[in-house]
Order: sequence, then C-alpha cells, then structure tokens
Amino acid sequence: MHAMRAFVVVCTAHALIAPPVRLRERTAPRATSGDYLAGLGQSTIEEVDAVVIGCGPAGLAAAVELKRRGFDRVVALERREAPDEFEVAKAYLYLVDRRGQRWTDAVGATDGIRARGVSNEGFSLTRIYPDEKGIFPTKPVLARPGAAQAVWIPRASLLAALAERAAHDGADLRFGVSVDGLRAADDGAVDIACGATTLRTPLVVGADGARSRVRDFLAKELPASSFEPRELASPSAGLTYKMLQVPPSFDVTNKTDGSSFTTRSRDAYTVPSRSTKPNTRRLRLGLLPSRDPELPRTANIIRPANHEIWGCATGAEVREFLRSEFPQLPDAVVSDEACEAFAIAEPGAFPSPQYVETVAATVGAARCFLVGDAIHAFPPDLGQGVNAALEDVKTLGDVLDDQNAVAAYQAARAPAAKAIAHLVQRGFPYQYDQSVWRQRLFTVGLVGRVAANALAAKLLPEKIAKRVAPPPAAFSVIDGEDYVGVWKHIKRATRATAALAVAVLARAVI
Ligand SMILES: Cc1cc2nc3c(=O)[nH]c(=O)nc-3n(C[C@H](O)[C@H](O)[C@H](O)COP(=O)(O)OP(=O)(O)OC[C@H]3O[C@@H](n4cnc5c(N)ncnc54)[C@H](O)[C@@H]3O)c2cc1C
Ligand SMILES: *[C@@H]1O[C@H](CO)[C@@H](O)[C@H](O)[C@H]1NC(C)=O
Repeated sequence: MHAMRAFVVVCTAHALIAPPVRLRERTAPRATSGDYLAGLGQSTIEEVDAVVIGCGPAGLAAAVELKRRGFDRVVALERREAPDEFEVAKAYLYLVDRRGQRWTDAVGATDGIRARGVSNEGFSLTRIYPDEKGIFPTKPVLARPGAAQAVWIPRASLLAALAERAAHDGADLRFGVSVDGLRAADDGAVDIACGATTLRTPLVVGADGARSRVRDFLAKELPASSFEPRELASPSAGLTYKMLQVPPSFDVTNKTDGSSFTTRSRDAYTVPSRSTKPNTRRLRLGLLPSRDPELPRTANIIRPANHEIWGCATGAEVREFLRSEFPQLPDAVVSDEACEAFAIAEPGAFPSPQYVETVAATVGAARCFLVGDAIHAFPPDLGQGVNAALEDVKTLGDVLDDQNAVAAYQAARAPAAKAIAHLVQRGFPYQYDQSVWRQRLFTVGLVGRVAANALAAKLLPEKIAKRVAPPPAAFSVIDGEDYVGVWKHIKRATRATAALAVAVLARAVI
C-alpha cells in the first residue's frame, strides 16, 4: 500500500509541479586526473559537478537550485531508503511561510506545494472537549495576516514534491546511501565515498541536518574556522516529544449531547485532557491540517520529562492514560498498535537553539556550503526550520555565479543563522505547558509589546515606531522579515527599555 501511494504521488506530482525553468548548460571545472580507476582494490571514481549530502527539505531544494543554476551532473545522497518514507517520529507538519515561498516562487514550485498542502487562510482550530463544553471551532488569537498565504504540508508530502521536482530537473537522487567518508582529493576536489564508487566533486552542499558529517569534515580540514555549534539556553530546549498516530479521519464524541462527530483531515483540532489544573497529567493533543486523506495523522505530544505520559511503558498503559484523560476519544481513534508503538518509541528531545559561525569554506579548490539544520537548529516554536532552510538555499543560488560565492554566502547566512537562533530563544518558548507562571509572565510581556507597538505606530512615523517599540519578534519572523534586522530591532528596544527603567528608578530614588 505504501509503494502504491508512492507511485500515485510520483505520477500526480508531474502534473502538479510547474514546468521547470529553462536550464542554462554549463560545464563546471572538472578534476584533471583522467584516471577512472584510482588504483587496485579502490573504488571507481565518478566525476560530477556538485554533490548534495542529505535529502531533507534543504538538500532537495539545493539539488533543484543547482540544476536551475546550470550545474550538469548534480548528485544528491540520502541514507533513508525513499524520499517520502513516512517516519512516525518525523511526521510533523511544516508551515511553508512567506520566507520559504520566496524560494518556491523563484523556482515555480509554490503551486505544487499548495496542491499537496492546506492553506493557512481562514485557519481555525476546532476544540474537542472531554466534557459538556463539547466541540466548537475557534479562531487563533495570534493569527498573523502575513501568514494567510502560508501552506501546511506534512514533511513526507513536501519531500515527495521536492524530490519529484529535483529528479524531473535532472538531479541524480540516490537513496539508501549513508555518507561517512569525505576526503580532500589530491587535485583540489572532494572525494565522497558512496557505495562501490567514489564521487569526486568541486562543489559540496552539506544538507545533512543538525549532526552534520559534512560540518565535521570541514572542521577537521580547517581547524582554524569555527564549525562548532554554539548552543543557547531556551525554555523549550530538551522537552521530550513523541508522536501518536491516528487515522486521517475519525469519530469523536460530542460530550454536550453524546452525538458522534467526524473529523476531517483538512481541519485542525485541539483535544484537551480531563485534567485542567496544571499538573503532570494535563495534556492537549494537537492535530494540524493535512490535505491527503490517505496519509495517517499524528498528534505531537511535547511535554517536560516529568509528565506522566512518559511513564507509560506498554501499549496497555498508554490506552489506560488515554481512556482516563480523553473520554471524548473512543478507543478506535488510537489503535492498539499505535498505543504500543507510542509506548516503545524512543523519545525525541528538542535541541537547544544553535548556530555555527562558519557556513561555507573552500577545501583545496572545492567550494563547500552548509544549509538548513546543519547551520541552525532549534525547537519548532516559530516553525522556522524549513523556512530558514529554504532561505539558505535561495541565498546559495543567488551567490553561486559570484567569483567569491563562498565569501558571499558566508557574509549573508552566518549572521542570519545566529539571528534566528537568538530569535527562537525568545520568540515563543512557553507553548508546552512547562511552567504556568512563566507562561503567564511571558504572555503579559507579549501583550505589553503588542500594545506598545500599536501605540507607537499611532504616535510616531513608521520607521521610528519600529525602532522604539518593535512588534514581538515572533510576529516579524512569521511575517517573513529579515532575521538579522528583526534581531537588531529587538536588541535595540531591549536596551532602550532597560535604559528607561533605570532612568525611572533613578528618579524615584533621587
Ligand atoms: C518534533 C519536531 C517538530 C518540528 N516541527 C517543525 C515545524 O513545525 N516547522 C518547521 O519548519 N520545522 C520543524 N522542525 C524542524 C525541521 O524538521 C528542520 O528544521 C528541517 O527538517 C531542516 O531541514 P534539513 O533538510 O536541513 O534537515 P533534515 O530534515 O534533518 O534532513 C537531513 C537529511 O540528511 C540525511 N542525512 C544525515 N546524515 C547523513 C549521511 N551521513 N548520509 C546520508 N544522509 C544523511 C538525513 O537522513 C535527513 O534526511 C521540527 C523538528 C522536530 C524534531
Ligand atoms: C455538539 O452538540 C451541541 C449540542 O447538541 C451542539 O450545539 C454543537 O453544535 C455540537 N458540536 C458540533 C461540532 O457538532
């Protein structure tokens, strides 16, 4: 059934994705050694123009971008067996926002993504209560007008769309290949061990995620540069997560009158537990909009390590917990298998917000670029992982023709990586029921900033208002504004507020 779905996905994608941009042929410089057999007992050398390592969203987008920029032989390597494997642990939804769409627009992929996703326009959340409050839709409080055009798309669907596009454009995608050996070749290129062959390339894109091997390789080759991730503290770092699988559509009980209500895959739901007091049992299951009525859905469960749900060691214990906390969910909603899978799944932990300072470098004569989680990783508080990655790829494409592409990419993306890590650190970290009081304090601060910004906007010219009282960082980020600019405004406003506080205090004392 899985293969069948993959087949349907591949067939329909052709029709969905806009025709590729016309390719400008270009032959990138080749390694000069004509030797295809590097020696006895060694593997065959395959000379290519670019190698992308990792086929997550960043890597697949980079493959598309390299083809678009005229690179001829582009190979992308991925250790997973298939582009769109459904991985329960990674079955989250991406919200491709304005920032990410700058790249998808540039390559004409936005329509294809829209066709597999659900628009954020008119986003509403239906609450399914465990008591007589019943079931009713609500509007989110923090809806951003700028996010109306954003698209919800499951990771697997986004990867399928991008892989299809990259293959269609002529990129050579190789799955089931785990890269562990990168080596600086004698002639200035980089050699990458890839099964029985060795790829020799003058251009490497490291898109292999937060624990990047490409980054390790660069750190080894260039010990003077800084490739060590810098970690920042965050209230959401280290939270435990697991995914609970549910059917695309299922019946729940409307506890107002006992009637049955059928959920739709395209709608978003939140399912609060019977425990409402802040304690180690209170929970909310969240389901985000998914277009494909065939794709299973997952409720992300993200809670501190002391939550009781993590104590469930068997499927039966998970079932017991669900029955007692979620009487609105009939047993059929979560299968016995899903309970069991949840119980035995290895829990994930959110990373600390982190960034690296060197994001591109030259090894010998080979140009190496890092994109995506390899240069910035953080908890998904602001949903920026995929959007930051696509912005990296857009910048990479824009500078590739540059004589000094490495320096240009470094100058553009290193500050951005640092800024987004800091913005996530402050943006919206208390969404996971970590601490009621801090959550409240954070909300008060947020409301205060919104009010100050609204007031400043009324009284002052726009530019000055933005300096004195910028909107909350989370808003500007979601609106697609430049990370570096947003962070600069926030820092300045924080300093101004501190100075003001000191002045007020001083007056009070004197
Ligand atoms: C629970 C959770 C929820 C999240 N929710 C969101 C969200 O709502 N919105 C959002 O934007 N982001 C979210 N993120 C973050 C998001 O997943 C990442 O930011 C995004 O996937 C980064 O893309 P990437 O391509 O850089 O890295 P990845 O998606 O990690 O892809 C890297 C790829 O490289 C492959 N690889 C790694 N090493 C090798 C190797 N040696 N050889 C071959 N292949 C290799 C891996 O198999 C993987 O496929 C979430 C993350 C988590 C953990
Ligand atoms: C739940 O039941 C109540 C009472 O009959 C009704 O008013 C409400 O609309 C129902 N909710 C849904 C989503 O059907």
